[in-house]
Amino acid sequence: MLRHAGTAVRLADYQPTPYAIDTVELDFRLQPQTTRVTATLALTPRPGTPAGTPLTLDGDDLRLVSVRLDGTPLAAEAFEAGPDTFVLKVPPARPFRLTIETDLDPAANAALSGLYQSRGTWCTQCEAEGFRRITYFLDRPDVLAVYTTRIEAPAGAAPVLLANGNRVAAGTAADGATHFAVWHDPWPKPSYLFAMVAGDLGMVEDSFVTRTGREVTLRIYVEHGNEPRTAFAMDSLKRAMRWDEEVFGREYDLDIFMIVAVSDFNMGAMENKGLNIFNDKYVLADPDSATDQDYAGIERVIAHEYFHNWTGNRITCRDWFQLCLKEGLTVFRDQEFSSDARSRAVKRIGDVRLLRTAQFAEDSGPLAHPVRPEIYHEINNFYTATIYEKGAELIRTLKALIGEAAFAAGMDLYFARHDGEAATIEDFIACFAESAGRDLAPFLVWYRQAGTPRLTVRHSHDRAAGRLVLDIAQATPPTPGQPDKQPVPVPVRFGLVGPDGRDVVPSAISGAEVTGDVLHITAAQHRVVFEGVHEAVVPSLLRGFSAPVVLASDLGPADRLFLLAHDSDPFCRWEAAQGLALTDLVAMTQAVAAGQKPAASAGLIAALGTVAEDAALDPAFRALVLQLPGEGDIAREIGHDIDPAAIATARAALKQAIADALGERFRTLADALASNAPYVPDAAGSGRRALVNTLGDYLALLPGGPQRTLLAYRAADNMTDRLAAMTTLIAAGAPEAETALADFHDRHRADPLAIDKWLVAQATAPGGDTLEAVERLTRHPAFSFANPNRVRSLIGAFTMSNPAAFNRPDGAGYRFLADVVLDLDSRNPQLAARLASAFRTWRALESGRRALAEAQLKRIAARSPLSADVTDIVSRCLG
Ligand code: PHE
Ligand code: ZN
Repeated sequence: MLRHAGTAVRLADYQPTPYAIDTVELDFRLQPQTTRVTATLALTPRPGTPAGTPLTLDGDDLRLVSVRLDGTPLAAEAFEAGPDTFVLKVPPARPFRLTIETDLDPAANAALSGLYQSRGTWCTQCEAEGFRRITYFLDRPDVLAVYTTRIEAPAGAAPVLLANGNRVAAGTAADGATHFAVWHDPWPKPSYLFAMVAGDLGMVEDSFVTRTGREVTLRIYVEHGNEPRTAFAMDSLKRAMRWDEEVFGREYDLDIFMIVAVSDFNMGAMENKGLNIFNDKYVLADPDSATDQDYAGIERVIAHEYFHNWTGNRITCRDWFQLCLKEGLTVFRDQEFSSDARSRAVKRIGDVRLLRTAQFAEDSGPLAHPVRPEIYHEINNFYTATIYEKGAELIRTLKALIGEAAFAAGMDLYFARHDGEAATIEDFIACFAESAGRDLAPFLVWYRQAGTPRLTVRHSHDRAAGRLVLDIAQATPPTPGQPDKQPVPVPVRFGLVGPDGRDVVPSAISGAEVTGDVLHITAAQHRVVFEGVHEAVVPSLLRGFSAPVVLASDLGPADRLFLLAHDSDPFCRWEAAQGLALTDLVAMTQAVAAGQKPAASAGLIAALGTVAEDAALDPAFRALVLQLPGEGDIAREIGHDIDPAAIATARAALKQAIADALGERFRTLADALASNAPYVPDAAGSGRRALVNTLGDYLALLPGGPQRTLLAYRAADNMTDRLAAMTTLIAAGAPEAETALADFHDRHRADPLAIDKWLVAQATAPGGDTLEAVERLTRHPAFSFANPNRVRSLIGAFTMSNPAAFNRPDGAGYRFLADVVLDLDSRNPQLAARLASAFRTWRALESGRRALAEAQLKRIAARSPLSADVTDIVSRCLG
């Protein structure tokens, strides 16, 4: 795994390969001990390749058995083969066939990349560079080939044999012990989209008729016994297929679409052509084991992987620097799908919340990188919130910039022009420049420049003159390797909210271009003047979060309270509440640090009471307004010399103050919202539950509260309410939490996905001894370092979602994380690297913690050997 530690890959060095691979024939012979892979590659020198140019194929940890050129065994001098590379020294200057045999040991593959076994099922994971762990190949996304895959396996252990495309042959050996299947995928694809699966799996089948009348077979494969838990995933798939036809005009292109759920998976899911492989967490659901959030997650990820069939597979990426071309765009598409399926406003707020906790945090620390990076050392570490979530925001920003019609036309142009190609961000943006008739060169700066732009707004209003002036400045803070930043085009959706809550329309606007309700900020400074504004107005800016920026406006508490009560834009209403709470929380943190008693402002609390009781508002929206900014949000607002304990104390104090002031009313409301209706995981049902459970979080802080919560725990007839009650008890530090935890464990002991929730609940508990509990749980029989879901649930949740406990002042949290990273590194470096990125906030800490975190980062860095994955993360963190 040390293969390219320290080797930088640069966008500027891009060159096409000297040879093309037209077809690939793969033959897998699966046996319990070894797997023999025979790959026959049909290669052609590309036009312009000088005769005799060596062919260099990628490998990773491979064992070569034999190699033939056009059927004839190659002399030893004709090639060089090591674990990580194969070189054919003097290839023919004409098309030729190379047949390579390798031996693999899938049962020993703990990295979960390449061909591995998950609970006995053979499966593959090839993105980004896993195919080279199966056979030597030009393992890069711009090499598109047609694949035929033959799998031979013991019939008893692996009755199900799957690969990409359509099954074209199958049979059983005379003795009945082994059988085989041959699959052919007619669509040229890069190696990262290759997949095969072999195992003893249950299956659920359905079908879908495309808009042109073709019938597609849909199959979901799961472990035996889990078939009934696939219904929601199947329904989501069919809705996603229909939606992509209706909204993006995209139809499915094979006769069969398969999803396989496996238990051991490094990521969420993978869009392999016609054969998506999923982390079972994004497939399996029933009301007793999955929460509303899980259902929404399944719907989203099923749609996401399906949508990749066009954005990623039919049009792929030229190189891994263009990863956001498929990921950002596909996240944008899945966000739109979920918005259409549920509440658009609630979805938007949820997405912005995720963007801030995950991406803004990344963008403000040592791991910040552009949406389209220009250099990487380990591509696995670039499957980040910046590529995915900020990448999706940029598509949305582009749409706000050029308008809906030009956006739709640009998408159509992109599909028409680049189908079957490996494209770049420039190719993509060029389609919109053309459809909008606009120079989009300034927009590309968003892709090149890391860091979150900050818009600072000052306003002044001369009512007598009817003139409202907004002074808007933009600046992006420096990020690693990019000290100086350029301005970016920022579409600011706006309204001027008048006294009755309706937008006041100015008679003229100068100082920035305006299209519809979008103010186009392009320079570092704008003075925007609105004329004809004689009423008292409050500017509502960045409606719908129209660009991924930090907006620092000079609106005071009264103006924010007004927006919270009256803005027609639900995002800005929510944002007004968040801003008010954040102001309080920062002041309260300072008070705690100074040994004073933190006090909340009365205005916010009163407003929260009003919103909670406003029956005209969607309950899901009310729940979001009642949820305070997270500890990480407060830390980012403070920015430096962070004391996570003070932040946690301040946040708990504000929660308590809200509970004390509004408890009576919250109780009445929660009682009125109680329902005996059967569980349905739709927007309405989950919204009602979100509000009741958010109110419950406050009620548990009152005398007698925990006892009531324990009753709610016992009465719950679904996982959403049961888990919410248990988490509430833990957050409140109530002794009743122990009762709930014990019951939860007994009830769900047979279901690893439910046990994950039990682990998360304990890992995110407040209090000084959470680390000891986490350490104890690593030795619990239900826990395993070999399973990424377990590791993320216990250790990922502790280090990423429990800042006060992880950042213990004695540094024990850092030492624990370093131990885990070092232990996992040799087995699953991708997972180890992901965990290590929890150190990314270390520089913003106060000096004591900072020194302790740095010492542990250095301890990891000093270990040898260390994977390229972890080396990359720790050296960037320290850099
Ligand atoms: N491409 C996958 C997605 O849909 C994510 C992934 C990346 C999965 C790398 C496995 C390995 O987002
Ligand atoms: Zn994706």
